[in-house]
Amino acid sequence: MRVRVSRLVVFLWRDGQLVCDDPLRHRQIALTVEAERLLRDYADWAEPTGRLAQQLLAAHVLVAEGSSEHAQEERLAAWRDLGPAATYYHLASRTLGRDVFRSAAEDAAVLRAKTTQPDPVKEYEGPRTALPRTDPPAVDFTRVLDARRSTRWFDPETPVPLSAFAALLRWTAGVRREVDVAGVGTALMKTVPSGGSRHPVEVYPVIRDVAGVEPGVYHYSVRRHELVRLADASGEDRLREWCGGQPHAAQAGFLLMYAAVLDRTVWKYPAARAYRALLLDVGHLSQTVYLTATALGLGTFFTAATRDEPVEDTLGLSWSEEIFLGVSGVGVPHPAERDRQAAMLDGGEAAFSFPPDAWHGRGE
Ligand SMILES: Cc1cc2nc3c(=O)[nH]c(=O)nc-3n(C[C@H](O)[C@H](O)[C@H](O)COP(=O)(O)O)c2cc1C
Repeated sequence: MRVRVSRLVVFLWRDGQLVCDDPLRHRQIALTVEAERLLRDYADWAEPTGRLAQQLLAAHVLVAEGSSEHAQEERLAAWRDLGPAATYYHLASRTLGRDVFRSAAEDAAVLRAKTTQPDPVKEYEGPRTALPRTDPPAVDFTRVLDARRSTRWFDPETPVPLSAFAALLRWTAGVRREVDVAGVGTALMKTVPSGGSRHPVEVYPVIRDVAGVEPGVYHYSVRRHELVRLADASGEDRLREWCGGQPHAAQAGFLLMYAAVLDRTVWKYPAARAYRALLLDVGHLSQTVYLTATALGLGTFFTAATRDEPVEDTLGLSWSEEIFLGVSGVGVPHPAERDRQAAMLDGGEAAFSFPPDAWHGRGE
């Protein structure tokens, strides 16, 4: 029998010791200097010699050739493309059969014992613009679901009406109600669900062309339904650059930049898995933006293909506290695109939305 170092374990330096983390089994073992040295002999298949090698095999730091673990390592093609960071995060945050989940009452007791909760909203200092309290029109829900598309062909000359912009923010990110949870604190209620009702996602509208609003970078105050101006307008080149070079990002009337405040969610869920909740929260918000924009007659797309660092710099975010996670671009669809989507809804030819000069997935 030959053995080699497992392809799944990760070595971490913790408190002056090298630790082998087995994310599949959620086990960590500290390695002695001898074990650390011995592992170098098993970078590739070799006969296990001595007790230490047997111990490392039993601890799943080494795997045996032909074993079920070896077979599993051979089936990791997709994970090899995702890379070691994704594999490790997925396994380390994947729950096991033996894991214990707290009841809501136990959760509340733990939270009551903690110091005060992080603020559920963020308020910036700066020039404020009150937004009109408009609602989306009453529409046929089924038709909205069916009409939802990712729009990448906007009318770059037509501003987004202020009423539609305000209604979109109010009915997606705006606070609908607030609940006082006894001894725990305030929880917001929105049209969007959020893990633990923590609503960690802040929305930063970057306005290119919205009627009556000076172009620029803003924060949306979810309680007050106001914009707070943070920075001057960013040119179209930068909007495109922020969205991985996608031309439609520079033609949308505005971009909604989503960033999650770590504290808010981690306060309730202090575990690696909470990172998944942050990503999922953005997905739920984006989908609500998709549907609300559709109801308002606007076009939208979501992108996670973003250049995070320059966006953080512009918004003044530090990834150690608030992480930028994605963008919804919203605008008035180009009239030809609007007609095309309407025709598709009524049985016309199906195609994804791209301007005529762009690749649109049909090989033309
Ligand atoms: C997680 C995620 C990432 C996406 N990234 C992009 C993107 O970078 N650029 C883009 O134009 N659309 C993006 N989209 C939209 C998809 O391309 C779109 O949903 C898909 O092509 C199906 O088209 P439909 O939304 O019109 O049904 C993304 C959607 C999701 C959910």
